[in-house]
Amino acid sequence: MKILLENIKELVQVVEEPLLFRSGAEMGTVKTIRNAFLIIRDEVIEEFGRMDQLKDKYMDDDLLIEIDCSNRLVYPSFVDSHTHLVYSNSRESEFVSRIKGLTYEEIARNGGGILNSAKRLHETSEEELHKSAMDRILEIMKTGTGAVEIKSGYGLNTEDELKMLRVIRKIKETSPICIRSTFLGAHAVPEEFKNNPSEYVDIVINEMIPQVAADELADFIDVFCDKGFFSQQDTDRILMAGMKYGLRPKIHANELGYTGGVQVGVKYNALSVDHLEYIGDEEIALLKNTETMPTVLPGAAFFLNLPLSPVRKMIDAGLPVALASDYNPGSSPSGNMSFISSLGCIKYDMLPEEVINATTLNAAYAMGVSDCLGSISKGKIANLFITSDVDGIASLPYHFGSDLIETVIINGEIQNF
Ligand code: NIG
Ligand code: FE
Repeated sequence: MKILLENIKELVQVVEEPLLFRSGAEMGTVKTIRNAFLIIRDEVIEEFGRMDQLKDKYMDDDLLIEIDCSNRLVYPSFVDSHTHLVYSNSRESEFVSRIKGLTYEEIARNGGGILNSAKRLHETSEEELHKSAMDRILEIMKTGTGAVEIKSGYGLNTEDELKMLRVIRKIKETSPICIRSTFLGAHAVPEEFKNNPSEYVDIVINEMIPQVAADELADFIDVFCDKGFFSQQDTDRILMAGMKYGLRPKIHANELGYTGGVQVGVKYNALSVDHLEYIGDEEIALLKNTETMPTVLPGAAFFLNLPLSPVRKMIDAGLPVALASDYNPGSSPSGNMSFISSLGCIKYDMLPEEVINATTLNAAYAMGVSDCLGSISKGKIANLFITSDVDGIASLPYHFGSDLIETVIINGEIQNF
């Protein structure tokens, strides 16, 4: 199967040499080709260039589909490197409690929050969890996401953590978009371990991690290293145990305070440290020239009214930044990456180019898929979207809340939603 996209107003995020991510001032650079064509063969990007070069590059022998992209932009799909989209029930009642004045941490202390989701997940079958998660996958595909990381963490006992990870494995097998799986047994301390959290950490280390590894259920390991959840010391023990099984960390860090999450993440060469509402000069200096991608989750900060992560300061200090949705029922019940892009520009003063890098190339690095996704490059998987008639690359973040994505192509196939 061959598809030709022609007369593309602007082909966005073209990367011609191998490139893992963009940092600092480079984040303001996005290469685009105006009046472009792009050829997809089977599931990969075969060729692209200016329209006036098309004649030299292609012969219309086996061409099957031509799409006229006049006035339209073509982007690589969004990569969403941090979600919790397998869950049983949404949590509107907590949303209303917060409107009335309770904080996220107070709700969690009263047995709501993650523990509430764990109780509901326990009562829900794998089939039901798979079905509702696949509905969410379809929802995010429609809004331009072509790869997503999904965490466990609503199990909080060995059996239910494994159940969640099996659901994620089934999503991997049944979803057209690329999925990566992260084990997050240390997401919250269950009620019965409230007075002795290190006993729960022992279970994560001695029971859960060996089984997760034996069944090859996870690509990465995560810990909610934060105030009221898991300490830097707990995190250190868990990441050390994960490392023995080859599980690279991607951790929750510094959402609710200066908790040492960045320090322990860098120590274990985490692929990413995520949230970063509380990050100062020390953490920024530590992250410089590491292989750890600072990842900011604007949806959670927006939904919980958290102080904003100092993204400008991080980029100006030379760091790379990725943006992800954190799609989950408690702190970010949306996986809409166009909206995340708008928040990036509006709330964090990121340029449209910086947001594009943060949601494609850098995010692909943060979930370990930059060899095959995250840019318009020959040989990468043809996960793309075509916009509606728009002005330019500032249009997507500018029209916050609007759906400007007209056509989605996944694995070289046009999606009919
Ligand atoms: O990334 N911070 C920890 N975990 C999620 C929230 C999960 C929940 O509230 O259910 C987050 O925000
Ligand atoms: Fe999260």
